Amino acid sequence: MSEIIIETSNLTRKYGTKLSVNQLNLRVPKGSIYGFLGPNGAGKTTTIRMLLGLIRPTSGQIRIFNQEIAKHRINILRRTGSLVESPSYYGHLTGYDNLHVVAKLLKVPVKRIDEVLEIVRLTPAAKQTVKGYSLGMKQRLGIATALLGNPDLLILDEPTNGLDPAGIHEIRALIKDMPTQHGITVVVSSHLLSEIDQMATHVGIIDHGQLLFQDSIGKLREQSAPLLVIKVDKPDEAQQWLQANGYQVIIDGDLLQLSNIDVETTKSINKQLFQAGFSVYHIKEHRRSLEDIFLDYVGKEGSL
Ligand SMILES: Nc1ncnc2c1ncn2[C@@H]1O[C@H](COP(=O)(O)OP(=O)(O)OP(=O)(O)O)[C@@H](O)[C@H]1O
Ligand SMILES: [Mg+2]
Repeated sequence: MSEIIIETSNLTRKYGTKLSVNQLNLRVPKGSIYGFLGPNGAGKTTTIRMLLGLIRPTSGQIRIFNQEIAKHRINILRRTGSLVESPSYYGHLTGYDNLHVVAKLLKVPVKRIDEVLEIVRLTPAAKQTVKGYSLGMKQRLGIATALLGNPDLLILDEPTNGLDPAGIHEIRALIKDMPTQHGITVVVSSHLLSEIDQMATHVGIIDHGQLLFQDSIGKLREQSAPLLVIKVDKPDEAQQWLQANGYQVIIDGDLLQLSNIDVETTKSINKQLFQAGFSVYHIKEHRRSLEDIFLDYVGKEGSL
């Protein structure tokens, strides 16, 4: 069993009578990049704000580094870096000087500033004022700020929001290095499955405040196992015939669907159907994309 860095039990947050976060049991393994995925309004930011002690849960518990946040908030936050919503900077100061202000507050050695600038690849822009930074550079400065205190855990709320493809790529590359090169566990939220797919090792899918799926990205992919789709004349009879011959078949409209069929079996089914007098119009393998799976979880209204 790998060590769990964040564990919540029935974490719940209400606004009025509305349940923004509903009985969440998160498990974030050490060394993972945990993609926290959900459409707008799903409850991602509310959850993250609770993890960071910025708002209180209505009910439920949070344990981070095996400690109860209600009792050990300061200890936990000292080991946690975060980026929630757009961070604010002193625009008239340079990137370096902005980091210097925070380094003083956190009492971290000044040499750490150069290290974090290097990690987020802002060293060449360190002496420029932040008001001249692009959005992507500002986000990277935000991540640099989050890294100043040498955290064991990094929590990023939609860090690529509003960035262009190059900016998104930069941030993704940065995040991917965190566990392997810096020993940091990462929680990163997004409403884009494609983005999570490209960087996460683990996924939690949230919608309407509820956790609908949580496991490794591999387990999510397993659900995209191929389906064999066959179009025949007389689909009802063909279904019965195939079932009588030991195949599990479902009918979707006028199409037959079989799962877990390899290439050899496909050939044999095709031949047998023909010999039994059916006309096979087409036969193809259909692999559900991760996107399809995500939409199955969050419903079409959560469309990307
Ligand atoms: N301070 C608040 N007062 C009232 N309702 C709130 C408050 N904060 C969040 N909510 C509601 O809680 C729900 C979850 O919001 P939250 O911001 O956590 O979603 P999100 O997943 O971060 O969405 P987005 O992708 O848009 O950032 C929404 O319905 C939102 O309107
Ligand atoms: Mg949000």
